[in-house]
Amino acid sequence: MAEPQAIYLHDYQPPAYRLERTELTFDLNEKATRVRARLHLQRHPEAEAQAPLVLWGCELGLERIAIDGQPLLESEYRIEGETLTVERVPERFLLDTEVVIEPAANTALEGLYVSGPIFCTQCEPEGFRRITWYPDRPDVLAPFTTTVIGDRDREPVLLSNGNPVERGELPGNRHFVSWQDPHPKPAYLFALVAGKLDCVRDSFTTASGREVALELWVEEENLHKTEWAMASLKRAMRWDEQSYGREYDLDLFMIVAVNDFNMGAMENKGLNIFNSAAVLANPQTTTDAAFQRIEGIVAHEYFHNWSGNRVTCRDWFQLALKEGFTVFRDQTFSADTNSAPVKRIEDVALLRTLQFAEDAGPTAHPVRPDHFIEISNFYTLTIYEKGAEIVRMLRNLIGAETFRRGSDRYFERFDGQAVRVEDFVDVMAEVSGLDLGLFMRWYSQAGTPQLDCRGEYDEAGQRFTLTVRQHTPPTPGQPDKLPLHIPLRMGLLGDDGTPLTLSVDGETPGTDTVLHLTEAEQQWTFEGIERAPVPSLLRGFSAPVRLDYPWSRDELAHLMRFDEDGFNRWDATQRLALTAIEEMMTAHAAGETMHLDARLIDAFRYLLNQPADDRAVLAEMLRLPSEAWIAEQQSQVDVDAIHAARRAAIEQLADSLYADFERVYHANQSTAGYAPTPEQIAARSLKNIALSYLTASGEPETLAMAKAQFEADDNMTDVRAALTLLAHSDRADLGDPAIRAFGERWSHDALVMDQWFATQVTRPQPDALERVRFLMQHPAFSIKNPNRVRALIGTFTRDNRVNFHRRDGAGYRLLADVVIELNRLNPEIAARMIAPLTRFRRFDEARAALMRGELERIRAEKLSRNLHEVVEKALA
Ligand code: PHE
Ligand code: ZN
Repeated sequence: MAEPQAIYLHDYQPPAYRLERTELTFDLNEKATRVRARLHLQRHPEAEAQAPLVLWGCELGLERIAIDGQPLLESEYRIEGETLTVERVPERFLLDTEVVIEPAANTALEGLYVSGPIFCTQCEPEGFRRITWYPDRPDVLAPFTTTVIGDRDREPVLLSNGNPVERGELPGNRHFVSWQDPHPKPAYLFALVAGKLDCVRDSFTTASGREVALELWVEEENLHKTEWAMASLKRAMRWDEQSYGREYDLDLFMIVAVNDFNMGAMENKGLNIFNSAAVLANPQTTTDAAFQRIEGIVAHEYFHNWSGNRVTCRDWFQLALKEGFTVFRDQTFSADTNSAPVKRIEDVALLRTLQFAEDAGPTAHPVRPDHFIEISNFYTLTIYEKGAEIVRMLRNLIGAETFRRGSDRYFERFDGQAVRVEDFVDVMAEVSGLDLGLFMRWYSQAGTPQLDCRGEYDEAGQRFTLTVRQHTPPTPGQPDKLPLHIPLRMGLLGDDGTPLTLSVDGETPGTDTVLHLTEAEQQWTFEGIERAPVPSLLRGFSAPVRLDYPWSRDELAHLMRFDEDGFNRWDATQRLALTAIEEMMTAHAAGETMHLDARLIDAFRYLLNQPADDRAVLAEMLRLPSEAWIAEQQSQVDVDAIHAARRAAIEQLADSLYADFERVYHANQSTAGYAPTPEQIAARSLKNIALSYLTASGEPETLAMAKAQFEADDNMTDVRAALTLLAHSDRADLGDPAIRAFGERWSHDALVMDQWFATQVTRPQPDALERVRFLMQHPAFSIKNPNRVRALIGTFTRDNRVNFHRRDGAGYRLLADVVIELNRLNPEIAARMIAPLTRFRRFDEARAALMRGELERIRAEKLSRNLHEVVEKALA
């Protein structure tokens, strides 16, 4: 078989044929679904008269192909790989095809497949070609009419995009519904759902007074988990009207929950399909974090209706055009709806652990890649999260009001079109009058920029000089990097904590300013500074960079107390903790006792005794840097030292501040009934972090407190926090019965069982890996279901670093075994799961060799295009 070929951005050619209309008929059957497609095509006025018609298809049983009613002879078309070419076609014609596909055999979950008893589709990015022969590219848009035929008993509900226009009965206990979607759309936004589903209905009146019917379709047993998503949807709809002036544009908006889904959810026009984990919520089964995640995803998919659907991408290299912008929109929505500083902290923590790692590894790519082998591999943290950071920088650069004028103009100008990243940035340049030419480099250059900052205080001259150097390390295919336009928000703090007034040339003096770094090295001088200040840099995380400044620990403690910027107060605490933990790691490596710096204990004591004005942020400040973030600081990762030092730091904090944690635990018990409100979430978060420190003290009564919280069974947030502490303790007599009780109680609920899996496989004890193998045999596990795979394998490889990186290589072997099996079943998930193995260069020689060995073992298989691309990059 030929090696999979890369596709290049610079090879882009506009489509030669446009679609006026697409008419589809599905005759559903698990084993053999018949798809008839009537495509009304027309040659593009600028295309050559001889231009061939090219369609895409994959694993289709072609039964009939005709042009204007004339069946094509086999000599009149050509199938090569995934394309079908007809050399001579009229200028305007009807292409009529019939294919047969087998949804029940579709384990890749792309195209039309079955999830339990439900038929559903996933077409982004290139799934539609598994449904029928089609110009499956995002720049070919058409209004769709879709008729779905199903069995009256097995598929009473038949859904597709748009509005239902006709329904009726057919012989043989069959029936049909026809749907019409008037908005032209690319095939990737097509959706079909059929099966026995129940509906929760609501409605929304738009700002201009139109009534929109809202429908949430779920399997009957999930009806008690729909309220939150519906409420979230309505909040998102209102927010998009208020913040972006965007109204919904059909009379019906549907969401469907399915159990088997590769990603979180999908923004199909008028018919969003959700992974059930990203939509179903209930206080008894769902944690606060999941409630918030669901709210964010419901909003994200809804927001795509404008940023993605009405204005879509010209080609898949432009993926960040819709994803970066839409993530930014959902982040802002969540910040407005919940605790804004905590939302920022969470987003940054995700970005700078996992996205920074991606950007430093073998699969690093620009936010707009210039080539790919398999586009499914590019639904990454870089495209989504770094893409959102770029939009955030843009808005900060031009100001929120100008940005809004820009987005209005963008939606108006490009409505109904498939466009590029440039179109978005150009509009922003136009409305602001700013030159964003240099800024565009953020889209083309991969890797995380490193800022090295130095401060110099000149006492005699009463001035402070800040020198900033930027440098981006090489990434695969991009050895030499150029300087970027980096907005650096900053301030200076006096020694008593007061913010100092900064007079920067040409700006009104204030205590906060944005420095524009555009060269490799720049210097700024602040005059009239009477005593040595403490600089607060990169406030609000104003750019997705790593920043170094030689702060002393006392200076960090100062920032933690006094910085006006909430984000930087948190960041200073993280930096302080990091230096303390790194010192302990050094002691660990030298075989010495690990002592936690008293300054961190003092800092925590201070935090715990502050008036609790922002409990949500306080809880975040009390969380030590994650093992993943500590690892990011090391040139060679020492997983054992990281784990041991972090654990020892927690224990010493617990011993020193026991009474404070105990007080905080009791002071934050909920009195009201559960609600996922920001206030309650903050209190639970603080209470549960306090409890986790308490149990780290080793005092036996603390596990009794956890047991009591577990047994009180008030809500999943508290239950799961307590279960985790019990299950991760050395007290099997407490952990095992709790695990058993939880597993029995929730055996009927797959989403809760995922939490049960995740809790067990993150045990730090050395038996964790054996437990993963054991749980893979559990009846609730199935390798065919992506949620189960993520909960059991994904959680283990990501969050149980000491056990995944076991010296005997058993963790690597386990992951490779799973990846090899998934390669046959679900290539997209296989290519995602393999990521931890691809980072082998970050580890010691022995581990790196073991990891590389497993990659070689995988490489010897017959690989899907997805896995081929990732494995080759990793081993290159
Ligand atoms: N476009 C979806 C989103 O971000 C993600 C997705 C991609 C879902 C590919 C399925 C397949 O909202
Ligand atoms: Zn999206």
